[in-house]
Amino acid sequence: MIDLSVTYAGLTLKNPIIVGSCGLTNSVESLKKLESNGAAAVVLKSIFEEQILHQTDFEITEAQKNEFLYTQYSESIDYIDQYMKEDTVTSYLKLIKDAKKELLIPVIASINCVSNYEWSRFAKRVEDAGADAIELNVFLHPSDDSDVDFEQSYLDIISKVSQEVSIPVTLKMTHSFTKLSQTIQKISQTDLQGLVLFNRFYIPDVDIETLQVTPKHPYSDPHDYTLPMQWIGLNSKKVSCDLAASTGIHSAESLIKQLLVGASAVQLVSALYLNGPEYIQTILKGLEEWMNSKGYNYVNQFKGKLATDNKYPATFERIQFMKYFSQIK
Ligand SMILES: Cc1cc2nc3c(=O)[nH]c(=O)nc-3n(C[C@H](O)[C@H](O)[C@H](O)COP(=O)(O)O)c2cc1C
Repeated sequence: MIDLSVTYAGLTLKNPIIVGSCGLTNSVESLKKLESNGAAAVVLKSIFEEQILHQTDFEITEAQKNEFLYTQYSESIDYIDQYMKEDTVTSYLKLIKDAKKELLIPVIASINCVSNYEWSRFAKRVEDAGADAIELNVFLHPSDDSDVDFEQSYLDIISKVSQEVSIPVTLKMTHSFTKLSQTIQKISQTDLQGLVLFNRFYIPDVDIETLQVTPKHPYSDPHDYTLPMQWIGLNSKKVSCDLAASTGIHSAESLIKQLLVGASAVQLVSALYLNGPEYIQTILKGLEEWMNSKGYNYVNQFKGKLATDNKYPATFERIQFMKYFSQIK
């Protein structure tokens, strides 16, 4: 009998599949569909830190002076404006309460934030509404050319939110750090119980016919899984909290690879937009078949088997690079 259960961020999950924060996790009806198809936990659609709204006000003023910027931001401005009108906070807390009434699986709230200002007290209300954990989506964008110290901002946000709540706090981060491994390890040594690698920012495209900057479709590609896999593999033996993989996991195979390098769980979003919630069952079946073929009964029997324990991974990576590319004529 194969047991797919795992533990992630202090939560016991019946299998390693968490549905990541997105439009599919924004209503109880949709959440129930995800649960009935096998999801082990859900991260609700993010609520935004108020500061972002102020910042967006500023961006509106600035953007309206500049046609190029306004085109880029107009969509998100409309989106956030609509949110404001709907009394976001009340409906978000209601979503948590309703989800907790209707679902048996853990419900993780998600807060999209850029600072540790007063909004962090809201975390307590999220806990009181019944959320099993909070995921912070720290939305500090690499294009930011101000003097903000990203790493310090992460540490400040974690510290402030952790003081407010006793439920597990996790964080989804970007890979855009100069010393990524060092940052991952440092952040893991805080009060965080889980770290999600990685966030995926909006990526624009260019239309060579209309000569305009256009939105690229929002979904990841199946080969994107190598990004979290590489960094989880490099760090899973060196961190002090659990790791979850996010970005590009579209198959049982890419899920298994994340577990092999040391992830405790994975988050799926694009694969479910592209294939429907039933696709969770296909992936779980693939995981079970693979475990069966390898004679594994528990995830812990192979979790982290391929994580690097190299003390000097940068030197190792450089030598691999030399070896590999010198063979290609
Ligand atoms: C339509 C859509 C909406 C999303 N909304 C959110 C959100 O509200 N909060 C968040 O933290 N991430 C959001 N994300 C990002 C996903 O949670 C995830 O990190 C990203 O899509 C990478 O995972 P994937 O390759 O499985 O799609 C969204 C992604 C998509 C495609």
